[in-house]
Amino acid sequence: MKNILVTGCAGFIGSNFLNYILKERDDVFIVNLDKLTYAGNLENLKPIENNKNYRFIKGDITNVELVDYIFTKYSIKYVINFAAESHVDRSILGSSVFYQTNVMGTNVLLEAARRYNVEKFLQVSTDEVYGSLGATGLFTESTPISPNSPYSSSKAAADLMVQAFHHTYGMPIVITRCSNNYGPLQFPEKLIPLMIINTLNGKKLPIYGDGLNVRDWIYVIDHNKAVELVFEKGKIGEVYNIGASREMTNVEIVKLILNKLGKGEEMIEYVKDRPGHDRRYAIDSSKIQNELGWKPSFQFEQAMEYTIDWYLSNKNWWDRIISGEYQKYYEVQYRNR
Ligand code: NAD
Ligand code: DAU
Repeated sequence: MKNILVTGCAGFIGSNFLNYILKERDDVFIVNLDKLTYAGNLENLKPIENNKNYRFIKGDITNVELVDYIFTKYSIKYVINFAAESHVDRSILGSSVFYQTNVMGTNVLLEAARRYNVEKFLQVSTDEVYGSLGATGLFTESTPISPNSPYSSSKAAADLMVQAFHHTYGMPIVITRCSNNYGPLQFPEKLIPLMIINTLNGKKLPIYGDGLNVRDWIYVIDHNKAVELVFEKGKIGEVYNIGASREMTNVEIVKLILNKLGKGEEMIEYVKDRPGHDRRYAIDSSKIQNELGWKPSFQFEQAMEYTIDWYLSNKNWWDRIISGEYQKYYEVQYRNR
């Protein structure tokens, strides 16, 4: 049995990860430490809440005593760190909590991992640490780190710290850097769920700038399977890029959603651009493909269709979210745009 502390799993990617991995395997015992910020939702974990190999602990990864207690009580030997403040626009509105959680939180986990001699520490990072691409080229693992937003700079700082712990203390670390995820349970502040829900509610669809910024989309379960593989087989000290080679402009994504929901392009509203908006992300995932044998298994059109259908059938889930704190956020983020 592998005793793993997996953080931030009441959020989008982490909850999909636990629902997937605890269905597939019974050789892992997982403690999920999550602060339940606005983005954390225990409803996401209904399928596994009574699993004998699972415990949930509500708490902050920056809490040294709590993290220490978890390592002792559950004999933790492995860490997978999903926990983060994850939304670029929120990091532009206020950056402190991003550095607190994403940098200091990672430091608390690393220090505990050092004290308890963990056998592997997997840091879930992002392609945004590489900055922005021009019209051509791809991010490889040797692309220099060059983050542009408070969010991506906090993730980059964490990556450098994780690598420094490997270099200095021999900490057995691996880092994954994935491109933009989509799928069920994604918080509706992110492009795809926001546009689906606004369309269903008859609200305008706010596209930043000229709508020609490019993101490289991957279905969340493909990301999760890659994380599992890097956790099991990734070479200590290495970084692995993860992506499904599906570049799309934002306006293409929005039109696809409108088309699937039978609505017209008059719902689109071009609004003021995101400050410092990265123009293009695109991932070269040949390292994880060639060295570990991973490849994406979901086809974009089908997985997008499934995702849109999921939001259509789970109105209760998102209705509760958008009627709370979200409204205040939406008002601040989108007024005067
Ligand atoms: P999310 O915002 O949906 O979920 C984040 C989770 O972390 C929430 O459950 C939240 O409660 C928890 N959390 C936040 N601060 C915490 C703290 N101080 N202590 C404990 N828990 C805390 O994020 P997501 O989209 O699921 O992203 C998960 C991870 O994957 C992040 O590290 C993110 O940087 C990375 N990532 C995301 C994407 C993407 O497209 N969403 C792509 C690549 C990498
Ligand atoms: O690349 C991986 C990253 O992808 C992750 O590390 C982040 O956690 C995740 O949030 C995501 O970051 P992005 O900034 O790319 O995602 P977001 O969904 O916020 O925006 C996607 C694109 O859509 C981006 O070019 C901005 C644009 N956009 C977004 C929103 C919310 C709009 O045009 N209008 C909007 O209302």
